[in-house]
Amino acid sequence: MLHYLLTIFLGLMSVLLLCALYGRRRKEGEPSLIKGWIPFLGKALEFRKNSHQFLTNLQKEHGDVFTVLIAGRYMTFVMNPLLYPSVIKHGKQLDFHKFSDSAASKAFDYPPVQSPRFPGMSDSIQKMYSLLQGSALDPLTTSMMGNLQRILRRLFSSGEWAEPNSDWQEADLYEFCKRVMFEATFKTLYGQSQHLQLDELREDFEKFDASFPLLMAQVPIGLLRNTKKIRKKLKNFFQPNRVAEWNAPCEFIQSRTALFQQYDTLQDQDIAAHHFAMLWASVGNTMPAAFWCLYHLLSHPESLAAVRAEIVDVVGQNNIQSIYTGDITITRGQLDQMVYLESSVNESLRLSSVSMNIRVVQEDFCLRLDARHSVNLRKDDIVALYPQSTHLDPEIYDQPQVTHTYSKAASYTSFVLMNLIKMSCLCFL
Ligand code: HEM
Repeated sequence: MLHYLLTIFLGLMSVLLLCALYGRRRKEGEPSLIKGWIPFLGKALEFRKNSHQFLTNLQKEHGDVFTVLIAGRYMTFVMNPLLYPSVIKHGKQLDFHKFSDSAASKAFDYPPVQSPRFPGMSDSIQKMYSLLQGSALDPLTTSMMGNLQRILRRLFSSGEWAEPNSDWQEADLYEFCKRVMFEATFKTLYGQSQHLQLDELREDFEKFDASFPLLMAQVPIGLLRNTKKIRKKLKNFFQPNRVAEWNAPCEFIQSRTALFQQYDTLQDQDIAAHHFAMLWASVGNTMPAAFWCLYHLLSHPESLAAVRAEIVDVVGQNNIQSIYTGDITITRGQLDQMVYLESSVNESLRLSSVSMNIRVVQEDFCLRLDARHSVNLRKDDIVALYPQSTHLDPEIYDQPQVTHTYSKAASYTSFVLMNLIKMSCLCFL
């Protein structure tokens, strides 16, 4: 027995020694390199435990840019937000789309879009994102607003959450937000049909979403219990012949559907997988975002009162009363006037978001950070922006963990589709 243990111990020591001798070393001009002592895993466990604290400590020790070995990948973190533009500007050398195409196609199970089998498809998909921006948001805003009002009226009048002998209805806040946001977002994007089983779809979606970080970490789907089966079920939901029966999908989804149909090389199940991927992109963030906004407002009565007063002021008391019986329209212009509401959405995102922006280095090159600094980067390494470090920076916010609802500083946060969340909170209030 002792003999075996000794052999295992010596084997492990040899692996560690070989990694130390022949593993990657920092070269001239490269950022500080932090590898930890565990081969391959590197600092993955510390990163996973508390990524904000871990990265802030490294920033204190190594400065604004450093490279960390995490689960086999070398990730260069750029911690100073003033340096973000220099990363974003180098779209050619620091690619997002190749990476997202490769990761998303594996996670959602469709063939990579950037392939000679689908000439021009990737560019067309990118161009279609303009249908989620600018003036194209107007019809989406109107449709989402209508869906939110109808869903809320239906849920409240159903008495599903009614308390015995009371006018109040009681529901778990997160469940409530998920249910309303999922259904409203789904209907706004994909349209309506009497036979849609959206509660079941949402439950499956949440099971899949729970495994999503592991899929992104390249864990084979076969090892993730039921995930493969659930993914198949979710994809089936979006079979093109079913989608074609849903009424009034938005222009964005109609255009994507028409685009996919142009490619004979794309099977029906692949088109379904693309629809499912867009469902994930649209509700994966909006459900928790709506919850955190509502949670922060409900736990700060003073902010809630200010936001409510603002809504009444902009929309008008009479309009607000009529929301109980029929749909009212709130324009983008009106939403733009609601600065307190916007500030509270910004604050909720600042306090609760932990997203990372990832770019993959396409070739060995020197990234100029500012007039005096530059760093050498290696092909296939990852460059990561970690906005949470800015969102929780005590030099920007006096008390970074406290909600500052009226704070102008909240505009440091930058997120898409602000109006969508503003509108949802407005309806909930
Ligand atoms: C609070 C809500 C949302 C948040 C916080 C959010 C956040 C993000 C972030 C951080 C990215 C990665 C951007 C990058 O690294 O450059 C992203 C990408 C994306 N989001 Fe959202 N998102 C939200 C809502 C939505 C909705 C409602 C949709 C669809 C209707 C959507 C569709 C997309 C798409 C398609 C991409 C990929 C863009 C590309 O490939 O260029 N998102 N989102």
